Amino acid sequence: MIGVYDSGYGGLTVLRELQKELPDVDFVFLGDSGRAPYGGRDAHAILDLAESCVERLFEEGCRLVVVACHTVSCVGLRHLQQHYSNDNRRILGVTIPAAEAAVARHPRAVAWLGTTRTVHSRTYEVEIHKLDPALPVHGIAAPLLAPLVEEGLGNGTDAEGAQLTRLAVRRYLRHLPAETDCLVLGCTHYPLLSEAFQAELAPHIHLLDPAPVVARALSDWLRRHPEFQETGTGSLRVLCSGDPQVFQRQGSRFLGRELPTVQHISEESGRLAHRSGPQVPQGQVVREFRKF
Ligand code: DGL
Repeated sequence: MIGVYDSGYGGLTVLRELQKELPDVDFVFLGDSGRAPYGGRDAHAILDLAESCVERLFEEGCRLVVVACHTVSCVGLRHLQQHYSNDNRRILGVTIPAAEAAVARHPRAVAWLGTTRTVHSRTYEVEIHKLDPALPVHGIAAPLLAPLVEEGLGNGTDAEGAQLTRLAVRRYLRHLPAETDCLVLGCTHYPLLSEAFQAELAPHIHLLDPAPVVARALSDWLRRHPEFQETGTGSLRVLCSGDPQVFQRQGSRFLGRELPTVQHISEESGRLAHRSGPQVPQGQVVREFRKF
């Protein structure tokens, strides 16, 4: 069973590609939607959130966890690997496959778009320069885009929503250096804005969605690590820390099909536990004091 982790719904665009590439593998997806967005948060806050999510996935029985979230991959992947990886457990991210795919196109200049924290980390720049130190790389923070997608705007039939997203995309693309011919979508949500990107980008600029690349990289990794290969039935379980009904409804836009029943996990004293009782409590919540 492979765990896939994202701050919210966006990672379902990655899961969709993983399931296409590995149809017999069983997956558990954890979307931390109750605590998203991560993109504007402090790096240490992101590490705290990420620790509780990967621990939950290991407790679910996963031996391998894919961090689909670009923000977490850019800021906290090394920390998570150093803390949790051993002969029996591994954690993989999205930044290295995405950087390799960008460099493999031999572009004149690469730009990548992501959350504020992703861009400030400069991790993409570091990974790309390990492969080609002379390649110009430019990061653009686009904090409005993920929330627009979460609101259901972007690709689709809502004309006003499409106009709004095109305006936001246009505003960020203004910062593209002139020589750019490859734009990396460095956020799990952006594939849902592909129509706005295609409309606003010059035709010679290649739009690189890392999700299919990550799927091929995972399949290649599994071939090289047969001890982590497990044959399953292609099953899927979905856990989220937000409202599970909303997650189920919204998530289908990202996964491209209906989601199975979403289970609620809730944060209690830094841990993500399964919830019984009302999924989303209303009114005041009183609980036992753990520490003071
Ligand atoms: N999943 C995040 C990423 O790929 C975007 C949403 C967020 O800010 O939490 O960077």
